[in-house]
Amino acid sequence: MIEEILPPGVRSAEAFDDLAPAPLFPEEAALMAERRPGRRRQFATARACARRSLGELGFASRPLLPAGGGAPQWPDGVVGSITHCDGYRAAVVARSVEVAALGIDAEPALPLPHGVLSLVSSPAERALLERLAAHGTGVCWDRLLFSAKEAVYKAWYPGARQWLGFRDVHVEIGLAGTFAALLHPADPVPVAYRRFTGQWLVRNGLLLTVVSRTAGTDPRRDVSSGAPGSATAY
Ligand SMILES: CC(C)(COP(=O)(O)OP(=O)(O)OC[C@H]1O[C@@H](n2cnc3c(N)ncnc32)[C@H](O)[C@@H]1OP(=O)(O)O)[C@@H](O)C(=O)NCCC(=O)NCCS
Repeated sequence: MIEEILPPGVRSAEAFDDLAPAPLFPEEAALMAERRPGRRRQFATARACARRSLGELGFASRPLLPAGGGAPQWPDGVVGSITHCDGYRAAVVARSVEVAALGIDAEPALPLPHGVLSLVSSPAERALLERLAAHGTGVCWDRLLFSAKEAVYKAWYPGARQWLGFRDVHVEIGLAGTFAALLHPADPVPVAYRRFTGQWLVRNGLLLTVVSRTAGTDPRRDVSSGAPGSATAY
């Protein structure tokens, strides 16, 4: 399913349950030793997805440990991202010469719990969600906005190594399955990207978002371009 919204060069694998055997390397098993069984299964299935997609890039199976801040340590020359939610696990990877930054997120296709939207959005974004809702598509736009920001965080963090708040990102969502994100972090990092493009998909009760940045673009060129509210590159 996720392959439908991936940019060129990205390999993926996904699972809708934890039934397939997904062995862990000893270092990974040690990391999960104290975790509840559900988390261990989720972690193992997502690791199996990651190893399958890395295999498509020609990499042998290897442990995939967190590198700090929760982001997985991908092999040199690889960017990637992992997500899991009820009924879904996925991993995506690409060679960094093709894709410079990559983030994915999966959510249940349900409205956000009461009170969350105001914490993760700006007035301009809420106005956008109202305009989108007027089209009557049935998409949970609030959840989509949240998911897009989670995917942005996963794409941003490995380059920036810095926290990014929900209010530090402005997302413009298009009706036809695309979105754009403009970042204005409180403490900017010159080497990290400030603009991402994304794709979204809602199907079978799941909402998926993918955020990426093509390789070969200079993050410093993002800095002077655009203010919050002008992330219209979708
Ligand atoms: C890290 C975070 C984005 C994970 O999202 P989530 O919806 O809770 O969980 P998901 O299942 O989709 O993703 C979890 C996976 O994300 C990856 N991940 C965790 N921290 C990460 C980070 N700092 N950078 C990149 N990837 C990260 C991991 O692979 C993790 O799975 P694993 O522990 O099994 O390896 C979320 O917990 C979080 O901290 N959000 C707050 C920051 C944020 O989103 N800000 C938005 C501003 S744009």
